[in-house]
Amino acid sequence: MKIKVFTLFPEMLRPMLSQSILGRAIKNGLLEVELYDIRAYTLDKHRRTDDYPFGGGAGMVMSAQPIVDAIEANTRGFSGRRVYLSPRGRRLDQRIVEELAQEEGLVLLCGHYEGVDQRALDAVIDEELSIGDYVLTGGELGALVVIDAVARLVPGVLGSDESPEDESFTTGLLEYPQYTRPAEFRGRAVPEVLLNGNHDHITAWRREQSLRLTLERRPELLETAPLTDADRAMLKRLRRAEALDIPGERLELRLADQFPRQWINAFVPEASRKAARKQCVSGRQHVGFLWQAFTLGLIDGLTGDEAEAAWRAQPPEEALLFLPDEGLLYRVPGALELPGHVVLTDPDMTRTFLRAADGRRFYAAVYLS
Ligand SMILES: C[S@@+](CC[C@H](N)C(=O)[O-])C[C@H]1O[C@@H](n2cnc3c(N)ncnc32)[C@H](O)[C@@H]1O
Repeated sequence: MKIKVFTLFPEMLRPMLSQSILGRAIKNGLLEVELYDIRAYTLDKHRRTDDYPFGGGAGMVMSAQPIVDAIEANTRGFSGRRVYLSPRGRRLDQRIVEELAQEEGLVLLCGHYEGVDQRALDAVIDEELSIGDYVLTGGELGALVVIDAVARLVPGVLGSDESPEDESFTTGLLEYPQYTRPAEFRGRAVPEVLLNGNHDHITAWRREQSLRLTLERRPELLETAPLTDADRAMLKRLRRAEALDIPGERLELRLADQFPRQWINAFVPEASRKAARKQCVSGRQHVGFLWQAFTLGLIDGLTGDEAEAAWRAQPPEEALLFLPDEGLLYRVPGALELPGHVVLTDPDMTRTFLRAADGRRFYAAVYLS
């Protein structure tokens, strides 16, 4: 892939092109990036490349002549899409990046000041591309964004262990959360499912996380993402939970992962902690649930009835509500009454109980500050 960049400020791009994955790709000849200084082509005796806008208005406009001359002189016989980076353009996304990566080469024109004389665009540009709905001072950052995103798709640019296949958007969904060592950082544990080496469970967990995050943050992506029947079933469950219309703030489920540890420390007598930790792990029956449940009756020195009675006698102002079936977490008023499978905890971690649908089993968690 050969990319020719036309700019008034080539030095703005050089540092990015010499480092890390881009630097390596260029060094290895997988990617060729040529920078052309538009100023070198001006015929103006003062070497000017811009002028006042006809019709008036603020700022300066880049003149057509140096741009057209620069591009024409350096793209003879060059086949590839010619792009002007511009906030007016088609908004770049991974699908467009994939399109661009199919091209033999690319020409990227960076504007500056108030933009570029339209006649230059009409003469030498195929398409305008925007990198987002905001205005930059120049197109150089936009060109770097395009180069970087396209380069990742050029075969060989990413090492074998840096595959682009799982990334956000490539799958049509946002990416699941990633973790690396250590397994525990400042009391925050890596989700257990990632540590147990069961690849089917890991794949299922990651898919669920991707669906959940996409539904939460970018629901419009689900309209075009390729989904399996299992994905659709999962989304239905998540949406059903949303339809419950819980009167409280929805929290990231990730936060629930910290409950069991805090809960053990706050509630479980020292002598029983080992057993509690075991139950905590065994409580992860559902792949994908970050939740870990406890059966209070099985932990010496603590009963669910006691916890519930204490809660009812004096409900806290605020509680966390966990819906295990839907895998959702909310901050709600402490006195809230909800049928079925709920976990309520109070902010001081003093009382805690879960009321199961059968009314007999108790799970518990602690409030996360
Ligand atoms: C200050 S902007 C000009 C904006 C122009 N007057 C307009 O309102 O459309 C200067 C240059 O920055 C670049 N630029 C600014 N925002 C951009 C964006 N969102 N995507 C791509 N390029 C952008 C373009 O090359 C543009 O010519």
